Amino acid sequence: MESIIEVQNLKKSYRKRKSKEYVKAVSEVSFTVNRGEILGLLGPNGAGKTTTIKMICGLLTPDSGSIKINGIDNKDKRLKALRHISAVLEGNRNLYWRLTVKENLEYFAGNRGLSRRDVSVQVEELLVKFNLKGKENELVNRLSRGMQQKLAIAVAMLADSEVILLDEPTLGLDVETGYEVREILKALVRDYNRTIIISSHDMDVIQNICERTVIINQGKIITDDKVENLLRLFDVRAYTVELGDSLSEQQEQLLLQKFPQHEYTKDALKSMLSIDLAKSGEIYELFDILKLNNTPVEAIDRKTINFEQIFLKIVKGEKQDALAKPS
Ligand SMILES: Nc1ncnc2c1ncn2[C@@H]1O[C@H](COP(=O)(O)OP(=O)(O)O)[C@@H](O)[C@H]1O
Ligand SMILES: [Mg+2]
Repeated sequence: MESIIEVQNLKKSYRKRKSKEYVKAVSEVSFTVNRGEILGLLGPNGAGKTTTIKMICGLLTPDSGSIKINGIDNKDKRLKALRHISAVLEGNRNLYWRLTVKENLEYFAGNRGLSRRDVSVQVEELLVKFNLKGKENELVNRLSRGMQQKLAIAVAMLADSEVILLDEPTLGLDVETGYEVREILKALVRDYNRTIIISSHDMDVIQNICERTVIINQGKIITDDKVENLLRLFDVRAYTVELGDSLSEQQEQLLLQKFPQHEYTKDALKSMLSIDLAKSGEIYELFDILKLNNTPVEAIDRKTINFEQIFLKIVKGEKQDALAKPS
């Protein structure tokens, strides 16, 4: 696949306010983005996502490293490289706050040199697509945060650039609007052939929209893989077993020896056992222990681990060895 963005060894520190100390915001960031791809940049707060995005769109100069957009180094030929990019950052600075929704769209559509007729066709299409009909004559500064965000994305789409960077597009939105923005983004990827980078600290957003994700923590890329592969990689065998009788002391002791991490709860009605197995064969050892007293098994359930848990594991460094696989 053809890459459109190549980021290599980016580093960026900030000087702490009123101090000579530096904060390393980004210290080891390299990744590529393929044309037409929608890449997630996932990481907890303070991981370096915004810093990375600002460097890619030319708002911050890296201390070292290189960024190539369409093969053009954005240090050598800044304007030429940046022509291919639009960005939606926090605060929606790409909008004119004293113009109406429609005026913003018309202005940016006009910027592309479209005829008046084409402008009005495009504006109408975007108003519908972004569910902004009925708000078109509202001033931007009077819109809700969610409406502003939708408009900011619509304006970014209008610029017709090949690459669109979205920094935390659903941050601070209420659940409903957050959902709507996600659906809009998915539709955009389908309908327009753009390359999109979305940063988020929210697992769901990335899992929902992106095929591949780079995970960043403390300024470093920890993993770069398809979301689907990550899910498989972290496919721990977690089971919950519902027992028809409580366990004997001996069984409890054996469980503790074999599976020190298990959880066992018993009450009058049922006993529950939760267990993570490292290897699939271990399930038989579990059954051997249950068989000692012919403990009835009422139900057995294999838990599916969600992306949120995976993310936490990665960030806490619990799965570093698993990730260090040859790519
Ligand atoms: N202007 C700044 N001055 C000093 N430190 C900053 C500045 N911007 C960000 N940082 C620090 O850099 C690190 C990365 O920040 P940021 O890129 O905003 O992360 P994210 O977007 O993933 O939350 C954090 O520790 C943050 O506190
Ligand atoms: Mg940020």
